[in-house]
Order: sequence, then C-alpha cells, then structure tokens
Amino acid sequence: MYQALLEEVLIDAPTLQHRIAELGAQISRDYDDTSELLLICILKGGVVFLTDLMRNITIPHEIDFLAVSSYGAGARTSMGDVRIVMDLSRNVQGKHLLIVEDIIDSGHTLKFVMEMLAARKPASVRLCTLLDKPSRRTIDIPVDYVGFRIPDKFVFGYGLDLDEKYRNLPFVGVVKKDVYLK
Ligand code: IMP
Ligand code: MG
Repeated sequence: MYQALLEEVLIDAPTLQHRIAELGAQISRDYDDTSELLLICILKGGVVFLTDLMRNITIPHEIDFLAVSSYGAGARTSMGDVRIVMDLSRNVQGKHLLIVEDIIDSGHTLKFVMEMLAARKPASVRLCTLLDKPSRRTIDIPVDYVGFRIPDKFVFGYGLDLDEKYRNLPFVGVVKKDVYLK
C-alpha cells in the first residue's frame, strides 16, 4: 500500500488537472499557426502527463514515444550515461517537436534527448515538463513549459515511479525519507 511510503501529498489531483488545463491552453495558443506539432512523450514517466495534456490541447497534433534509460539499473537519478531503449516510430524532419517529460532533475536525460532530436532536423524543439527540481540541475537546459517547480525531494505518483511502481497514483507525493534512503 502506498500510504506506508507517503510522507505527504505535494500536488493533489485537482491542482494537477487545473495546471495541465492551463498548459494545454498555452500550448494551443503558441502553436496555433503550425500544422506539424508532434508531442514526444518520454517513457515511462511522461505517459500519465501526456494523456492528460493532449486532451487539453485544442489544435491538431500527433504523438510519439521515446523510451530512454540512465545507466545503472535501480538508480534513482541519472548519472549522465543515457541511452535509447525505444526510438520514435517516425521521421521528425520538419516537424515542431514538443518533448513531454515527467520531471527534470540533473538535466542529463533532457540534454541527451534534445541533442539527439536536434540532429534529426526538426523545425523546432521545445520542452514541457510537469515537474522541475531546479536546485538539482547540473546541466543548463532551456525549459519552455513547466507545470510546477518543486523542492529537492524524491516524489512519486502521476507517472513517476518508486522502483517502477505507483505510477498510477492520481497525485504527486513525497516519499518518506527512510523509504527513499533504503
Ligand atoms: P535527470 O536526467 O537527472 O534530469 O533525471 C530525470 C529522470 O530521473 C526523470 O525522467 C525520472 O525518471 C527520474 N527522477 C528524477 N527525480 C525523480 C523523482 O523525484 N521521482 C521519480 N523519478 C525521478
Ligand atoms: Mg524514472
């Protein structure tokens, strides 16, 4: 049961949904005159955010999925060695790419992804993250859309996992310290 792992609910479900509606409206305005918007969901953590965000985007768009992993199974933060586990299904040349990510921590994952995508000659690459932990950043990444800036605490739920579980929780919660340090 998740209750034993939960220190506190950091962002509850209504607050998440309200902010995601705002982000969807903003993105719909910003990309209104582009016909080639492609949302690129970073698996697995971005999937819950993607499905809510896309339903709040009112302009036509496509979606695709990119799975990446950081070196070191079980590592809770990336160490800089990022690799592709599953690549996009289609060519992105000439498209306006919006990366949809659950959280930016050190920035290693997104730096890798953005450089890889930029090399494929898209029309543009922007980044939308639900959560941002700016105090943990070691690589400077330009973030275009941020749902919430959060403190340096390990969080789970709403797509984010605790050892691969609890992605289904409808809120973002802080993991108890004694659980996290185990
Ligand atoms: P970065 O490469 O250090 O920016 O790490 C980004 C990845 O680390 C995210 O996509 C998450 O998978 C994972 N991550 C970082 N912080 C957390 C957290 O608080 N909870 C769950 N996963 C996290
Ligand atoms: Mg993860």
